[in-house]
Amino acid sequence: MTSRIQIFDTTLRDGEQVPGCKLNTKQKIEVAKALEELGVDVIEAGFPVSSPGDFEAVKLVSDTLRLPIVCGLSRAVQNDIKVAAEALKGAVRPRIHTGIGVSEMHIKYKLRTTPEDILFRAVEAVKYAKTFVEDIEFYAEDAGRADNEFLARVFEAVIKAGATVLNVPDTTGYCLPNQYGDKIKYLYENVRGIEKAILSTHCHNDLGLATANSIAGITNGARQIECTINGIGERAGNTSLEEVVMVIRQHAELGFETGINTKKLNPISHLVSDRMGVPVQPNKAIVGANAFAHSSGIHQDGVIKKRENYEIINPLEVGVDHSKIVLTARSGRAAIAYRAKNLGFELTKIELDEVYGVFLNVADKKKEVGDEDLMEILSPVREAVVV
Ligand code: KIV
Ligand code: ZN
Repeated sequence: MTSRIQIFDTTLRDGEQVPGCKLNTKQKIEVAKALEELGVDVIEAGFPVSSPGDFEAVKLVSDTLRLPIVCGLSRAVQNDIKVAAEALKGAVRPRIHTGIGVSEMHIKYKLRTTPEDILFRAVEAVKYAKTFVEDIEFYAEDAGRADNEFLARVFEAVIKAGATVLNVPDTTGYCLPNQYGDKIKYLYENVRGIEKAILSTHCHNDLGLATANSIAGITNGARQIECTINGIGERAGNTSLEEVVMVIRQHAELGFETGINTKKLNPISHLVSDRMGVPVQPNKAIVGANAFAHSSGIHQDGVIKKRENYEIINPLEVGVDHSKIVLTARSGRAAIAYRAKNLGFELTKIELDEVYGVFLNVADKKKEVGDEDLMEILSPVREAVVV
C-alpha cells in the first residue's frame, strides 16, 4: 500500500523571503493559482502580520482558491495569530502555522529565555490559534539542532493543546540525512499522542542536503514535506518541490505518492523564475535548461539509440517537450547525423565523414553549434541534393 505524502508549498512565504523576490499581490495570486493546478495540498500564502501587502495577499489567496489548504505564518504571539486568522477568514480550509525556537541556541541567544518558558509559550500559542481555526500546524524552529527529548516534550504538549501538524524544521540546513531521519523516527516513536497529528519536514539547503533530508524524513514517519518551486528560499533555499516529487515518483519501491501533476512542473518553474526574477541554474535537477540536454558524443550516441540509456525521467512527464542533443566540440557523428536529419538531411556515411571535419573546426571556435551553423556546414551536401 502506498502512503500519500502531503505537499506543503511555501514558495509564497519562505521562498518570497529571498532578497529581491518580492511579488506584488497580482503575481502572488497568479503563482497561487498555478500551485493549485499543480495539485499541492497546502499553500503557505504568507506571513500576514509582517506587512499590509502580505496580509492582503493571504486574504486574496484565501478568498480565491478552493482546493488546497491555505496557511498563514505567525510567531507564537497573540497579535500575529489574530492577524493570520483574520487574513484566512475566506479560506475553505484555513490553517494557522505558529511556532517558536526550540534549540538551545535559539532559546538562550535569540529568545533569551528558558526551556520552560518556551513550552509555556508554545502551548499558549496553539490554544489561542485553536480559538480561530481547527487546523493548527506548530513549527519547532531550529529543531534540526534541538535536543530530541525536549522537542518530544514540546510536541506532546502542543498536541494536547490541539496541534494537528508538527513541523520539524532543519532551519539552518545542518543535519545529515541519517541524523534528520533518526530525529523524525525518535519523534514518531516517542511522542505520546503522535497518532493525532502528522509530522512535517521543513529542510533548508545550506549543505545541499534538503532533498535528501526530506526523503529521510518521510521514510522515517513524516507525512508532509514543506518545499518551494525551484528550491528558492532563505540563504541556500528550501527543499525543491520538483525534486522530492520526482524522487517519490521514480522510486515507487519507497511506497509513497503525491497528488502533483508532474507535467506542470516545468511551466510553474518558468513562471516562478520569471515573476521572482531569479534564474534557474542550468544544471538544476528536473527543471534546469540542461536537465534533458546531452552534449558528449558517448552520451548522445546512447540517447539516440535509446533515450533511457542516459535519462531516468521521460521529459514529457515533467512538461519538457523533448530531450536536447546539443552540438559541441565533444559531439560525435551520431549527433551530427541526428541533427541533420531533423533539418531534413539523411546523410550517407561518406557525407557524414565529409561534414564531420568541417563541423569540428566550427565547434572548436564556438561553444555550441546551432541549426544555422549546421546548415552552413551541410552546404556541400545541400548543393549535391539540389543538383
Ligand atoms: O526554517 C524555518 O524554521 C521556518 C519556520 C518559520 C517554519 O521557515
Ligand atoms: Zn524555513
